[in-house]
Amino acid sequence: MSDLTGYINSNLDRFIEELKAFLRIPSISADSAYNEQTRQCARHVADEMARIGLENVQVLETPGHPVVYADWLHAAGAPTVLIYGHYDVQPPDPLDLWTSPPFEPEVRNGDIYARGSIDDKGQVHLHMKAVEALMAAEGALPVNVKFIIEGEEEIGSPNLPPFLEAYRELLACDAVMISDTTMYDVDMPSITYGLRGLAYFELRVTGPDRDLHSGMFGGAVANPLNALCTMVAAMKDENGRITLPDFYNSVADVSPEERAELARLPYDAGDFARLVGATETTGEAGYTDIERLWARPTLDLCGIWGGYQGEGAKTVLPSKAGAKLSMRLVAHQQVEQVAEQLRRFVAEHTPAGVTVEVVELHGGPPALTPTDSAPVRASLRALKEAFGVDPYLIRSGGSIPIVADFDRVLGVPVVLMGFGLPDQNAHSPDEKMSLRNYHRGIASAALFLREYAVETRTGTSAV
Ligand code: BES
Ligand code: MN
Ligand code: MN
Repeated sequence: MSDLTGYINSNLDRFIEELKAFLRIPSISADSAYNEQTRQCARHVADEMARIGLENVQVLETPGHPVVYADWLHAAGAPTVLIYGHYDVQPPDPLDLWTSPPFEPEVRNGDIYARGSIDDKGQVHLHMKAVEALMAAEGALPVNVKFIIEGEEEIGSPNLPPFLEAYRELLACDAVMISDTTMYDVDMPSITYGLRGLAYFELRVTGPDRDLHSGMFGGAVANPLNALCTMVAAMKDENGRITLPDFYNSVADVSPEERAELARLPYDAGDFARLVGATETTGEAGYTDIERLWARPTLDLCGIWGGYQGEGAKTVLPSKAGAKLSMRLVAHQQVEQVAEQLRRFVAEHTPAGVTVEVVELHGGPPALTPTDSAPVRASLRALKEAFGVDPYLIRSGGSIPIVADFDRVLGVPVVLMGFGLPDQNAHSPDEKMSLRNYHRGIASAALFLREYAVETRTGTSAV
């Protein structure tokens, strides 16, 4: 056995400096003002891959931000792992709520603070460092490895599905490894086997063709802001169930076995409420909070506007109103199906005197991944070795749009081995990553490659 751990430990400080350089690049995919920096970030990842000994490094163009590819394919007879992640980040706003600037990474109390630290640059970086450590300590990798790091995950991966189809052969593999999720809690390493999907819409409501005096016209002319609120309020009943037509027809029930498994996870509603600064938890009747978060669909307003927002009172009937509406989906809901259900609901519930436009913004299907595949077994052993405790099998409420496509296009199992924590402010100010988890993540990623080779060498099926 080589000194893998020794290499990781003695190079950790340098790794962290390199992570900082990655975090300094503002690769904000949603904001076209940052297109040049986003592209520069792709080149940064490509340079790093070449430096650690990966081959065939390419920055591949898409109609949007580029995808970085690299591989190392010299483990004859061994399986191939495709490691996926994203180098793009969410916009850092609101800037005044950050303790240190979002693109000037700073270590405080064992955490590294920066936009993208946990989502997903830190987790992409730990896989590159795992490969570097294995190459340095052993001169080779135990399995074949391909990397595909994209730049559009935070805007819904619009160009990645056709990219997978176009590069199906280049990307051929036996398993996909993704670190872009969280652990259940501190010191509770986890493999995630379920992600929710997402369907995101904008509703645009129009009433009279200009803002009106609310005394001269109020009562006889429709108010688009009232109309919007009436419609949205009708989308859920008093039990928190969504009322769109046929909405639950394709929602898979949580099986009694899975309900029992989920109920065994340590959970305290009071702690959870405190974590998010809420007075209490609440949701769909008949389900636990964990089921509501992981296995039930949601419908939420993410924004609403219209009318007067300034100081004091202004008596006005607005001409227009609008809202951003997001739905998290679970197996076996489909984005197109839900979009159709929303359009039908809106058509049937549009109040007199207004028109409503439903604009589809982006989305991605839900995903359930197998829990008994060879790569999952390998990752469970790797986590146990790196963290010293038995890992958990969990689901997550978040979405990674491309996961279902990996399954569909490449037909191989996906493993979600994440190192985030619930309190690390992904998408929020003061995003951070625990350096302890970064360190153990590097070890886990390296051990996974080793264990996956063992798993397939012992004659167990590769799938
Ligand atoms: N890494 C997250 C998804 C995630 C976070 C999964 C935590 C599990 C646990 C990803 O970058 C993300 O933010 N996805 C978006 C969807 C996308 C279409 C904008 C999301 O879930 O809102
Ligand atoms: Mn992410
Ligand atoms: Mn994200």
